[in-house]
Amino acid sequence: MKKFLEEHRKKFGEFEVIEFVDEAEVQRLRDKIDTGVPLDIHWSWEYGSEVAELRNLYEKGKVNQWNAETDLDWDIPVSKDDWVLKPEASMLAQACAMMGKDEKTQKAAAFDELGYILSQLLHGEQAALQLCGQLTNVCDKMDQKWYAASQVVDEARHIEAISKFLQRKMGTIYPVGATLKFLLDELLEAEGMQKKTLGMQTLFEGTAVGIMDMMRTESVNPLFTDLIRRVEQDESRHAAFGVLTMRRVVKEASEAEMHEMEDWAFGILETLNANQQIDMLKLFGPKYGIDPEFMTRMFTSLPNFAELNSMAFMHTVVPNLKRLGLITDRTEPEWKRVGLMVDQRGGTAGGALPEVA
Ligand SMILES: [Fe+2]
Ligand SMILES: [Fe+2]
Repeated sequence: MKKFLEEHRKKFGEFEVIEFVDEAEVQRLRDKIDTGVPLDIHWSWEYGSEVAELRNLYEKGKVNQWNAETDLDWDIPVSKDDWVLKPEASMLAQACAMMGKDEKTQKAAAFDELGYILSQLLHGEQAALQLCGQLTNVCDKMDQKWYAASQVVDEARHIEAISKFLQRKMGTIYPVGATLKFLLDELLEAEGMQKKTLGMQTLFEGTAVGIMDMMRTESVNPLFTDLIRRVEQDESRHAAFGVLTMRRVVKEASEAEMHEMEDWAFGILETLNANQQIDMLKLFGPKYGIDPEFMTRMFTSLPNFAELNSMAFMHTVVPNLKRLGLITDRTEPEWKRVGLMVDQRGGTAGGALPEVA
């Protein structure tokens, strides 16, 4: 199987991490703001509905629109002197606590970490916006075009809501991490509707739903809870589009095409996971006296590493891939080896379609 970013990999014990050591290279990736994308444009003269389940998603999207400016209570305070998420949700706060630092420092560290993670989600939202814009062109059915157009509006609202939260309440938008920028470009540059839908709606949105669900559960700030709840509700529609569309794609795929999609899906998420939190730890480590390499080595060598690490992936994306036949006996051991997948109680992850609000 092809590995992405081979030249940036190194072993921390059993775990292979991806780290960009050369800051100039990170900057080059961030400065690459123009990219050529092969795009086929399809007209459709069929204006009636052909794919009922997608028309249904489009209708649900219309009913569940919300306004990021007026539906959220922006007067609710957010401060680095208060917990936004429960303390146990922050790797930095826990490290500070273990080193005996006071609660004020732990809260400040958790605030920095949340700002960083939210900033990465924000950059992912921008990629989703641009990719869905592409889908309105490359899809050949009118129901797909309508659905993709409705997702463009959703993603614009997510960018609005998260960027306003970062600017108004947290004060900083952190730049995109190098590994994430590389992967988002890989998705945006992918050829054809199948690969674009597999990459964005199935892999990234499926993972995002898992991360957001954990954030919402851990949130103790009512504004943040409401923001994530609303975004997550939209994202579950997006992940559903990924599964509904991919279900048709895999039905028609040859064995060779299935293998290619299966390997690509693993390659993308393995790369995302291989960065762990190194970029964030390198940024804030010095401020709190934390050694990024030590932290990452410690986490990846924990006896229950796979269980902790796989939580966001096991929520939606892994069950969906398994159900689609894109995790098979051929690749399942690899998913488990890198901590993206664990056996669920009562058997292996079987999964169900995401719930669509
Ligand atoms: Fe989004
Ligand atoms: Fe989305």
